[in-house]
Amino acid sequence: MGQIKSFIALSLDGFIASVDGELDWIPQSVRAIPKSLFENASCLLLGANTYNYLFEHLDGQVYKTKPIYVVSHSDYNILPNSNISFLTEKPLDAIRRLKQHHEILVIGSAKLLTELIQLELLDEITICHIPVFVGKGIGFIGETFGSYWQLVKCQSNKGAIFATYNYKKKQDD
Ligand SMILES: NC(=O)c1ccc[n+]([C@@H]2O[C@H](COP(=O)([O-])OP(=O)(O)OC[C@H]3O[C@@H](n4cnc5c(N)ncnc54)[C@H](OP(=O)(O)O)[C@@H]3O)[C@@H](O)[C@H]2O)c1
Repeated sequence: MGQIKSFIALSLDGFIASVDGELDWIPQSVRAIPKSLFENASCLLLGANTYNYLFEHLDGQVYKTKPIYVVSHSDYNILPNSNISFLTEKPLDAIRRLKQHHEILVIGSAKLLTELIQLELLDEITICHIPVFVGKGIGFIGETFGSYWQLVKCQSNKGAIFATYNYKKKQDD
């Protein structure tokens, strides 16, 4: 059984992107981190909105070495012969199957992360707290059932705090 690990940058006021979906408030050094995390994963899993952003801004070039799975209601893949697959039919069941054999990395994709947390499919989340108030924008995790997470790593770099949490089935006494 593999694991699903995630990385997401968060502003001090709890946003993952500004209103127009932009990430220009995230330092370049932090934006480069997912690429290095991808080296330890066997595939990348993205919500459709995050995929659209990455596709527009990176042209898919950075992540072309391993499979990319996009969770979406529709398949609008214009690169059908690439490493990109859209999961449109019961995508969460498909993710459960993928997890059997893959070490999966999720970047951004807060809406998708909310679903993975709900279904207890997410094993690890690294939140990078960026010292900026974005003001308004796209929020972080949506409504979940409530769950406990253990801090396994915490470090700071250039003013940003990186906190990694593992999912715990039970609260400590
Ligand atoms: N802060 C960061 O670290 C970071 C990193 C990368 C990107 N981002 C930003 O994050 C934003 C996107 O995140 P987000 O939370 O809005 O969205 P997201 O999780 O990337 O994508 C959500 C979309 O995925 C599809 N989807 C999710 N679950 C599904 C399901 N069960 N079945 C079918 N389709 C499903 C739906 O799209 P459809 O209905 O269209 O199919 C849904 O609207 C972008 O603006 C991007 O710039 C932030």
